[in-house]
Order: sequence, then C-alpha cells, then structure tokens
Amino acid sequence: MNAFAWIIALALLALALYLLYRWGTANYDYFEQRRVPYVLPFSAYGRMLTGKLHPVDAAGEGYRVFPDERFSGFFVFRQPGYLIHDPELIKQITIKDFDHFVDHSFNISPELDPFLGRSLFFQSGNSWKHGRIGLSPAFTGSKMRNMFELLTSYCEGAMRRLAESTKGKIEKEVKDLFQRFGNDIMASISFGMDIDSVRDPDNVFHQKGKRFTATTGIQGLKFFLVTLGGEKLLKWLGILLTPRDVADFYLDVVSRTIKYREENSVVRPDFIHLLLQARKNILHHDQHDEKLESAGFSTVEEHLTSTSENPKQWTDLDIAAAAASFFFGVQEELGDGRLTYEAMQRMKYLDMVFTETLRKWPPFGVLTRKCNKEYVMENVHAIQRDPQFYPDPMRFDPERFSDENRHLINQDTFLPFGSGPRNCIGSRLALMQAKCLLYYLFRYFTVEISERTDVPLQLDITALGLSAKNGFWFYLIPREI
Ligand code: HEM
Repeated sequence: MNAFAWIIALALLALALYLLYRWGTANYDYFEQRRVPYVLPFSAYGRMLTGKLHPVDAAGEGYRVFPDERFSGFFVFRQPGYLIHDPELIKQITIKDFDHFVDHSFNISPELDPFLGRSLFFQSGNSWKHGRIGLSPAFTGSKMRNMFELLTSYCEGAMRRLAESTKGKIEKEVKDLFQRFGNDIMASISFGMDIDSVRDPDNVFHQKGKRFTATTGIQGLKFFLVTLGGEKLLKWLGILLTPRDVADFYLDVVSRTIKYREENSVVRPDFIHLLLQARKNILHHDQHDEKLESAGFSTVEEHLTSTSENPKQWTDLDIAAAAASFFFGVQEELGDGRLTYEAMQRMKYLDMVFTETLRKWPPFGVLTRKCNKEYVMENVHAIQRDPQFYPDPMRFDPERFSDENRHLINQDTFLPFGSGPRNCIGSRLALMQAKCLLYYLFRYFTVEISERTDVPLQLDITALGLSAKNGFWFYLIPREI
C-alpha cells in the first residue's frame, strides 16, 4: 500500500471511530435534560477496566457520588438507567408499583434460547407470572422440609467420605469444594441423580453445570453481548446462550427420569416430582405452610397467589429448564449428630452469621427492573454497607441480627434475595443447603484458616460476581467421631 492509500485508510478508520463515538454518546444529555444527577460511564468503567474498581462498585458509583439523592442516573453503554438509593423507593418499585416493573432489565425469549428462555429468571410479562405461580408451591416451607432429608443425607455422606479419604491435615479451596457439593445436591434434588464429587470429581454433571453457569470465557462474552446489544444482537449473530450439548444433556436426563418414574411408579421428594405434579395441575400450596415458622431473617415471602386462569403447561423441556436453572443458585438437640430440620431452625447464631455474610457480601450486587424501555437498578451492595442503615458497616457483626437487635434494622435495606413478587424463589433452599453443608463440614473437620487466604478479603476485580482474589483456602483436619 502506498502512502496515499495509508492516509485514506487511516482517515476512514478515524471517521468510523468518530461516528461510533457519536452514536455511543448520542444519549448522554438524557439526564441533563431531566435535571437528574448522573455519572458518566467513562470514569467508573475506566477504573473497572484498569482493574481499580470492582464491577459492583462501578455500578453503585452514583450512590457514593450523590449520597443525599434518592436516585441518580447512569449509562450502560448507550442505555440510560436510574440507580435507586432510597429504600422506600425500592419498596415502591418492587412491591407497591410492581405492575409497572414486572421484568428484570434483560429477558431472554424462548425463541432466542429455548432452554434459558424457559427459566423463570429470564422470563417476562405473563409467561413469567404463570411460571412463578406454577413453581412457587414447589418452594414452600413444607416442601423444603420434605427435601431436607435428601439434603442432609447427601451433606453428611459427602463430608464423611471426604474425611475418610483424608489422611491428616489437608489444605482446600472451599469455594470450589462447596460448588462441587452444591452441584451434587442440585443434581440430586433437581434431577433425582446420585452424583459423588468426592470419588468422581470430573463427573459429567459437574462439567455441564460449570459450562452452563459460567460467567467468564465464551459464556461471559455471550452475557456481555446481551448486555451490550440486547437479545437482538445475539439473534443477529445466531448465537445460543446455552451451549446446545448442555441443553440436550439436561433434557435427556429429565426425559429419561420422567419415563422411568412413570413406568415404575417411583416417588422421590425432589423437584422432578413436584414439577410432574405441576404438570398434572395437582401441585398446590399446603395449608400447613401458613403455620410454618420463618426460616430466618433472610428468607423472603411469596407474594403471588395461584389462580386457575391459564395455568402453565409443563413440557419436558420446561421441566428440564426449570430444574437446570436451579444450578445458578449454587455458588451453605443434635442427639447422634444428625441434623434435623427443627434443630437447624433453632440454630440462631448460625442464621445470624449467614445473614451478616449476606449483608456484607450479597452475591448479586445489584437488582434490576425494567420500566418500558429504560431500566432501573437498585444497588444492594452500597445500601447494605451504608452506615446510616448499618452502623460501622465494614465490621462483620452477626449480633446485628440477634433477637435483641434485629428490630433496629430496616427490613427494606436488606436485599440479598431481592424484593417483592420477583424476589428469589429459592431463598429457603439456598439457606438450608448452605447451613447443612457448613454444619457437616464442622462436624467432620476442625477448620483452620490457611496463610494463602487474604485477611481482610481481597475482591477479584476481574469477576462479575463477588469472589476472593486468591481463593478461600482452609486447612481441614478430620475429627475423631
Ligand atoms: C445464596 C444463594 C442465593 C442468592 C443470594 C440468590 C439471590 C437472588 C436474587 C437477588 C434474585 C433476583 C431477585 C430480584 O430481582 O428481586 C434471585 C432470583 C431467583 N433465584 Fe435466587 N439466589 C440464591 C439461590 C437460589 C437457589 C438455590 C435457587 C433455586 C433452587 C434460586 C432460584 C432463583 C430463581 C428461579 C430466581 C428468579 C425469580 C423470578 O424471576 O421470579 N436462587 N435470586
């Protein structure tokens, strides 16, 4: 290429970049016109890309810059959104005015991804409403109590096998350990499969689950593209969010399990059983549920009640997608030492520790809601660390949630499982599972922190979710039982 051609090419490139910049920033007077205080993406995203700011902190920049405002504006690339600071306003959006804010900020339609598009989290409008009403009886206190037996026997067996296979003190990264055990538990209670990650660490369920829920690598890039250009961009590029072999694997497992159970009249207290009841329209809220005690400070109540109008029709694919989507949630008088549901409910201090952990480190740093075309997001992370709601917020202090102190906390400022009819459907299960795993970890092992673990914890800036930069390393020393 001669010098003239180079000049033309560079000029065209500069023009293209300029036009891209103009297109990308064309909306940037949006909040100026509405006299709303706002942050431009450059500084926060700049610090995020150079590794100086965690994505969750970047998302909550307006909360820190405008501490006295009830809300502020922000942009995700070209898209304007409102960051809600005031817990009263959050309540209004997520509960009182829920009809205006039914959807999360990005949905995935079944046409774009036949699998993920059928999971409750990504559904919108009426299809979400029918799905939620259909699914919620599967998550009530009495159903959780029935599932508890499966859960506790898995947790006990897994920790016992780990202790038996351990010679003396071992060093373990416990996030990885809990993720593997969590996957086994979900394979058991969602799919009716017995998986053993201690003896078979690379089992196919673990591999598929890891690919399905990944937020880094190719999967991370796909989610990034959805955030950038909405699902239209993925449709245009012809990309499926769920890898096809992963969706086929789950559908095949579920179809075979359903066939086997129907042919052999097998009943097991797991999600497949409950979803099959939903398919036959015989899954309902139990009378007994009304009387159940609260499962802890953190669990959230169900808002929608069932109706016979257009009940959801459950195909095998719907059942497989619902059961698989529960993998996203994986990421915690004793007599003979076996944990019972009642004993777990009475473990107040364990509940206080979990609740304080979810306050200081909410795994979903932000909640999102869409109103027409723009979107609203509420910053859980910043609110739960605001000294006006939680004095000395950086101190890890489970006593905040003791019986004597919990009335001092404004419930509207505690949002790890979201708020309103679109809150987390699996909060009871998540707590039950985490408590059960922790209980048996301490029953079978003495646990000591390893020097490889950073104290205080250093966040991994490159991860979308909250994660420790150098892992959570502990020494496990088997106990004499
Ligand atoms: C510590 C663990 C967990 C945390 C912190 C968590 C948190 C959340 C949050 C913040 C939301 C969005 C709520 C909102 O927008 O207001 C959500 C939604 C959801 N979660 Fe969880 N979750 C956890 C575990 C689980 C588990 C174990 C399951 C299933 C077994 C589950 C199933 C769901 C579903 C289906 C939704 C979508 C609900 C809807 O759109 O109606 N989660 N979760």
